[in-house]
Amino acid sequence: MGDRGGAGGSRRRRTASRPSSQGGGGPAEEEVRDVGPGGDAPAPAPAPKDENRDSDVGSGPWDLRKTRHGGRIGPERTSVPLLRTPLSPLLLPGVLKRCHRLQDSLFSSDSGFSNYRGILNWCVVMLILSNARLFLENLIKYGILVDPIQVVSLFLKDPYSWPALCLVIVANVFAVAAFQVEKRLAAGALTEQAGLLLHVVNLATILCFPAAVALLLESITPVGSVLALTVHTILFLKLVSYRDVNLWCRERRGKAKAKPASAGKKANGAAAQHTVSYPDNLTYRDLYYFLLAPTLCYELNFPRSPRIRKRFLLRRLLEMLFLTQLQVGLIQQWMVPTIQNSMKPFKDMDYSRIIERLLKLAVPNHLIWLIFFYWFFHSCMNAVAELMQFGDREFYRDWWNSESVTYFWQNWNIPVHKWCLRHFYKPMLRRGSSKWVASTGVFFASAFFHEYLVSIPLHMFRLWAFTGMMAQIPLAWIVSRFFQGNYGNAAVWLTLIIGQPVAVLMYVHDYYVLNYEAPVAGA
Ligand SMILES: CC(C)(COP(=O)(O)OP(=O)(O)OC[C@H]1O[C@@H](n2cnc3c(N)ncnc32)[C@H](O)[C@@H]1OP(=O)(O)O)[C@@H](O)C(=O)NCCC(=O)NCCS
Repeated sequence: MGDRGGAGGSRRRRTASRPSSQGGGGPAEEEVRDVGPGGDAPAPAPAPKDENRDSDVGSGPWDLRKTRHGGRIGPERTSVPLLRTPLSPLLLPGVLKRCHRLQDSLFSSDSGFSNYRGILNWCVVMLILSNARLFLENLIKYGILVDPIQVVSLFLKDPYSWPALCLVIVANVFAVAAFQVEKRLAAGALTEQAGLLLHVVNLATILCFPAAVALLLESITPVGSVLALTVHTILFLKLVSYRDVNLWCRERRGKAKAKPASAGKKANGAAAQHTVSYPDNLTYRDLYYFLLAPTLCYELNFPRSPRIRKRFLLRRLLEMLFLTQLQVGLIQQWMVPTIQNSMKPFKDMDYSRIIERLLKLAVPNHLIWLIFFYWFFHSCMNAVAELMQFGDREFYRDWWNSESVTYFWQNWNIPVHKWCLRHFYKPMLRRGSSKWVASTGVFFASAFFHEYLVSIPLHMFRLWAFTGMMAQIPLAWIVSRFFQGNYGNAAVWLTLIIGQPVAVLMYVHDYYVLNYEAPVAGA
């Protein structure tokens, strides 16, 4: 880019503004001096030959240097040799360098400026200040509501009855049952059809048994139910993977037997000594390593980290401890009163107040969700992985940069996404389903499990969670069709920030009406 500022008229010239780093020169060069009274500066020697002369860039007094942000800055200190020349016309008073040149304002996209670090810091400062005000307002209004003892009552109604824990212990029975079926299948004591039937019965019981207990048992709390059902859902997904991988191994073994030429081949090197092959993997040790590992996809040989890093582990454990307290505190102090205050507008069907409450709830809800994300996917999963020397730590990817809903689902919960791809989506594609059908199938299953984890503990079937997950398919289409780039990213954030509190308010409202208003109405 050439400097076009010198075309006729009055000119001002300026020397560089960065003293030492970009060339020599003393303070005399720093000052901006007016060009002579006539407005035309005497041409410096050598004068620029051409306004748009790219070839001269970086070689003469009109050198336009790159700034840190990639734009250009004006003529540099290359005038130093001229100043030292005794008869240089630049020694005349009031004559030095031009101070204007063709350039864009920083906020113009043409400027190429992209360093908004300061503005990001400003956002953080504003966020802290506004939240500090909210924090104070909340304290003044409600006093301190945080009560760690109350958390215990969320899990237990009666200190002598621990139904959720009992359900978690009972889950082992299903794991052992699946293991025994696999053992017999490997030994050829069961046919594949019989094995499939037994697995289906076992898997169905894993989902139905805790659901029945949660619905029928009085002493189990909603939070206890969520915990027990989550454990059983994870077990269900893991055992599906366990069964699939062992089946694939048997199929491969069958093919290898059919081709005796390749059966004799052995892997070489030290790595082969440490790998397990089918059916040697069928041990309780291997099964329980998989059940406790932070993954839903079974493998015979997981990548292992060489040692347990004690400092890393300690940091994750401290994060787990601190963030648990923080989440509980924020829920009790910030979310619960906001939700309680939302009930009246809902009762009166006051739409403007409902929207105001929704937006108010969106802030703590989103903050807690973000903390939960870090707590679960980074702190907890890494702590477990470190303890078990589980090597694959890709629990999440950069979902925060999502410019589409599809990208978000591919990147926010990697264990679930990997399971969906490996045990649901790709098998459906292989059987001839279209991508759309396979994708809809995955979201349907995901919607079912979301509803399962909410409806059963709350003892009410409203399908809000189910609808929310199924709505992801049209939402993905709308966002990709109408929003791209930063707008797409903003649209994804907006759906996350607003979508969740809508679901939360719906469930809380229905729960409130069902449990606190219906008996009164009946009376
Ligand atoms: C439905 C879902 C699995 C689709 O995933 P996706 O990555 O968008 O799917 P794509 O069509 O891009 O294909 C993904 C894979 O299938 C492969 N694939 C595509 N077409 C294929 C075909 N016809 N045959 C075989 N494989 C195929 C791709 O190569 C790709 O493989 P790779 O992962 O090894 O690169 C994903 O959106 C998802 O996980 N959704 C549910 C998420 C969820 O509910 N999470 C709950 C969190 S609480």
